[in-house]
Amino acid sequence: MVDYKVRDIKLAEEGRMLVDYAEKHMPVLMHLRKQHSEKKPLKGMRISGCLHVTKETAVLVETLRAAGAEVAWSGCNPLSTNDKVAAAMAANDIPVFAWNGLSKEEYYWCIEKTLEHRPNLTLDDGADLIFTLHRKHEEMIPELYGGSEETTTGVIRVRAMAEDGALKYPIMAVNDADTKHMFDNVYGTGQSSFDGVLRASAILIAGKTVVISGYGFCGHGLATRARGLGADVVVTEADPVRALQARMDGYRVMPMKQAAKEGDLFITATGMKDIITGEHMKAMKDGAILGNAGHYNVEVNTNDLAALSEGKKRVRPALDEYMLKDGRRLYLLGEGRLVNLVAAEGHPSEVMDLSFAAQLNAMLWLSVNGRNLKPAVYEFPKDLDRQTALAKLETMGIKIDRLTREQAAYATAYAEGT
Ligand SMILES: NC(=O)c1ccc[n+]([C@@H]2O[C@H](COP(=O)([O-])OP(=O)(O)OC[C@H]3O[C@@H](n4cnc5c(N)ncnc54)[C@H](O)[C@@H]3O)[C@@H](O)[C@H]2O)c1
Repeated sequence: MVDYKVRDIKLAEEGRMLVDYAEKHMPVLMHLRKQHSEKKPLKGMRISGCLHVTKETAVLVETLRAAGAEVAWSGCNPLSTNDKVAAAMAANDIPVFAWNGLSKEEYYWCIEKTLEHRPNLTLDDGADLIFTLHRKHEEMIPELYGGSEETTTGVIRVRAMAEDGALKYPIMAVNDADTKHMFDNVYGTGQSSFDGVLRASAILIAGKTVVISGYGFCGHGLATRARGLGADVVVTEADPVRALQARMDGYRVMPMKQAAKEGDLFITATGMKDIITGEHMKAMKDGAILGNAGHYNVEVNTNDLAALSEGKKRVRPALDEYMLKDGRRLYLLGEGRLVNLVAAEGHPSEVMDLSFAAQLNAMLWLSVNGRNLKPAVYEFPKDLDRQTALAKLETMGIKIDRLTREQAAYATAYAEGT
């Protein structure tokens, strides 16, 4: 039995049923698994991963292993691990260090355990593994071919490291693959965050004023789903172009100071800290619900919320009622962490099929090219994006047009006009 630490290994059987179910909804990744199981192109690669332990992640990890890699895993959020899935992974001889409800110390202990595995590839969601490696294990860096980063916030972090000259090995920005952020961030976050809101609060969305902060990829998905459920949608933004886009998409746009007075439900998706602070909370309606879909738990200032309150109680799973000193109550979803992962199951498998096909392709690409690359952040190859999209369309039974030879020539020509 490999080294692992999970909540309860006896949950493995239930976890395996979840993983099997996810596999059936991830045809592109499963096709790639079949394709790479024979030649095992990742043989000799030791991958340490730090990404939410969900049923879809188990499908990715088992695919990496089928392709020849040795893999060790931790979760990338203290509250997002599915304990059943973690047990199923451990029972399948994967060194996994993850359980739901980690303290901060335990969270970093789990990352350290995956580093004992001495990776030559890393796979991150939020860059905590990359950052830990740089800060505490510089001696491991010469062995690294490269790493990949799954989310917007993580890509921003590694780009900042690169600009600062602090990045010491090449990272592929998987988030920036078209087949990742145009689908995962939009449809995945949009649907699964409302899944989380509904499981935790059981409120009716129709007729409510729902405030979405950030009109990026995630915010766009959230606003679309909120409107679909019958909400009056308000968007807050700091970027004038995105604010204009939100308005022209038909939403009301205003500063948070004003939105705070109107909202029944708030969901932040900015990747920025202090989107909702005590100043805003003071203006909110009694009973307003606050949640976050951005990567870190910094968007709703929970210290401010605690300071305004004289007590709190957990009224439902993933829903805390804060009793404010002035008599109002505010509700916080999932302790201000990713509501779709804490209060629900994360993105549906169908969309993670695309994101994790990109992750597998990133690992394959880095295992071949990584040694010759300088420490920098690399774009996902466009041809891989096209291949993945075509493969997904095929699994959906959808055919598309192909450019004729004349059209292909026209696409890059300049001589023909009116
Ligand atoms: N919940 C999930 O499963 C999930 C999935 C993907 C991404 N994410 C995370 O969600 C966050 C957003 O990702 P994205 O891809 O939509 O990023 P994005 O860059 O496309 O959008 C973020 C938007 O927030 C806006 N913003 C920044 N500061 C603001 C402020 N003070 N007030 C209002 N708006 C502000 C920006 O102008 C931008 O338009 C990131 O933290 C990302 O890592 C979460």
